[in-house]
Amino acid sequence: MGRRWLPSLLAGGLAFQHVLLYLCAMFYRHHVFFCTNQREDGRPCCQDHGAADMRAHAKDRVKALGLARPGGVRINSAGCMNRCAEGPVLVVYPEGVWYSYRDRSDVDEIVERHLMEGEVVERLKI
Ligand code: FES
Repeated sequence: MGRRWLPSLLAGGLAFQHVLLYLCAMFYRHHVFFCTNQREDGRPCCQDHGAADMRAHAKDRVKALGLARPGGVRINSAGCMNRCAEGPVLVVYPEGVWYSYRDRSDVDEIVERHLMEGEVVERLKI
């Protein structure tokens, strides 16, 4: 496929979202994006709820559980994902399950039930 693999896949009719899902499945069992966007204009944002600290906590938990590896779990920061009013938010791929959380115990529950057991945490799902 060479260096032009992404344009080739897209030109072949695959939607970018499907390419992203394929790549996530290829490298990580679960790829988690925490919105850590900070706004300075007073509008709601995930960082108003300590999103960067919650992301760091999730990263530490995943590492401590031995999940942070290829074929395991990757925790990343993301900019605004346009669900600000429901924030703080994170999304887990390849399932595309969105969560809102309030504290470390919510993040721990997502790590232990979803990322380890593959069970969607319905009470935190948005
Ligand atoms: S600021 Fe987090 S979704 Fe917009």
